[in-house]
Amino acid sequence: MTHVTTLLCLFMKPEKESHNLEHHWTRSAVVYQIYPRSFKDSNGDGIGDLRGIIQKLDYLNDGTERSLGINAIWINPIYPSPMKDFGYDVSDYYSIDPLFGTMADFETLVSYAHARTIKILMDFVPNHTSSQHPWFLESRSSRMNKKRDWYIWRDPKPDGNPPNNWLSVFGGPAWTFDATTGQYYLHSFLKDQPDLNWRTIEVREEMEHVLRFWLQKGVDGFRTDSISYLIKDDGFRDDPPNPNYIAGRSNPYDALLHIYSQGRPELLSAANTLCKVLDAYPHAFMVSEAYLGIPKMVELYRACDNNLHAPFNFNLITLPWNGESFKTFIDEFDAHLRPDDCPNYVFGNHDRSRVATRLGQKRARIAAVLQCTLRGMPFIYYGEEIGMEDLPVKEETGLDPWGKNVPGFNLGRDPERTPMQWDDTLHAGFSTSTPWLPLANNFRTINVARESLNPRSMLTLYRTLIHIRTHTPALLNGSYHSLPLQGGKDIFSFIRIYKKEGILIMINFSDTSHVVSFSEDVLRGFLNTGCRVLCNTECNDAKKYMNIDTLTLRPYEAYVLALPSK
Ligand code: GLC
Ligand code: CA
Repeated sequence: MTHVTTLLCLFMKPEKESHNLEHHWTRSAVVYQIYPRSFKDSNGDGIGDLRGIIQKLDYLNDGTERSLGINAIWINPIYPSPMKDFGYDVSDYYSIDPLFGTMADFETLVSYAHARTIKILMDFVPNHTSSQHPWFLESRSSRMNKKRDWYIWRDPKPDGNPPNNWLSVFGGPAWTFDATTGQYYLHSFLKDQPDLNWRTIEVREEMEHVLRFWLQKGVDGFRTDSISYLIKDDGFRDDPPNPNYIAGRSNPYDALLHIYSQGRPELLSAANTLCKVLDAYPHAFMVSEAYLGIPKMVELYRACDNNLHAPFNFNLITLPWNGESFKTFIDEFDAHLRPDDCPNYVFGNHDRSRVATRLGQKRARIAAVLQCTLRGMPFIYYGEEIGMEDLPVKEETGLDPWGKNVPGFNLGRDPERTPMQWDDTLHAGFSTSTPWLPLANNFRTINVARESLNPRSMLTLYRTLIHIRTHTPALLNGSYHSLPLQGGKDIFSFIRIYKKEGILIMINFSDTSHVVSFSEDVLRGFLNTGCRVLCNTECNDAKKYMNIDTLTLRPYEAYVLALPSK
């Protein structure tokens, strides 16, 4: 971007009033997460790459109802990396790893995606670099090095032990001794991923520079990795023991309550630093990775003042599966948000067991309905749209360092990272040679080619839902109102309202049928007869009309209906 355009952007700062954001792309975005190693291999080395993504852009959105219809992509890290944590160990923030392609390929991807009105979100990894990053090589070379303070170095305890009891998420202590300079360095994740020191101003400035570099390349925003780890307690106090931890029963990392090693209050100012950079680019958006409850999520929303930043909301992943707990959580979350906040309800990603494995195929369809009809941005992890399932991988033979370092707790993430299942040919159309991770063995039945032909497949459901969402103002910008639970705790229903348009979503969370009825006095000025079916989980009722004064919802059935206004 030229200097003049940068200046122009500064003058075009986004306004805070809702009427301006209503047409911001984030308000109609459906984000598709691509784990690039596993999406599509274009050169036959068994590893997915940027040209592979370009080849599949039509699948993602060709402008017609036949394609998936997403309009934003978040790509997991594609920077040069020793790949100890498959790209989350970055050794250069300003280029592309040759495994994935070249900077020219990346620029082509951005321009081809934009031509299809698909936005691009980069993964941004500010908490740690690779131990092979030149900054760390400098930092570790001597205590006097000018980059010494870019990382977190502390003296051993008098007995030679690590400076405190902090643990690494990926197993063992968070400190590794470095004999060259006789100090320990901190790593919240692998020892190959030393934590940057966010209390050092040059580190913040460099990271701001990284953001600007990619924004000027035309990207539309970022997914910020591990944001709650950015700032640690400045007194380096020990984390207290977790009273609920039972040794041997759960992940050893859970032995402590991580109140000093992460989630510090100063984190909000670090988030604000990042948002300030984005302020100069009115189209840009940032979503931050932090596993938080409602009060802390709200603090992160408030950390930035332009409403173009959101924390991920991962709470639905672990909520008990019943209508009541979903209603209670969503009501409370929605009540805490301001109209301009951009919520999200995540069901899966590259760190979590696949939705269809965790919940089963039927409930995965309900997750699809919730994603596409609740307020805010859906995030769809590649393969969820065809109901891909985990590949059972033995920890000893797996590739993910987490599973290998902490065996016995099922922490390895290989199962949810298997190659995309495009068709039933050799290697599932992903590659012409053996993929880097084995394919899930059900690829001959669960694949894009086959599901494209099936009017009731998961893929058809996703395409329909995304299409409806994109063309229904009430689903994009409408307010959210839940209705009283029905069928005991089993039936959760809500209405989205925008101007005179009302959309009712009713969901049976249970494996039993329920008779339900919606009287007009709860329908906020809409009728309970002649409601048009936009979609149902079985994909067999679309375009019909139904009365909802009484009706039967079959097991795990959900409906999306347009309500006539009075
Ligand atoms: C985040 C990423 C995860 C990665 C970790 C360390 O949690 O989602 O995949 O291993 O950060 O960067
Ligand atoms: Ca490749």
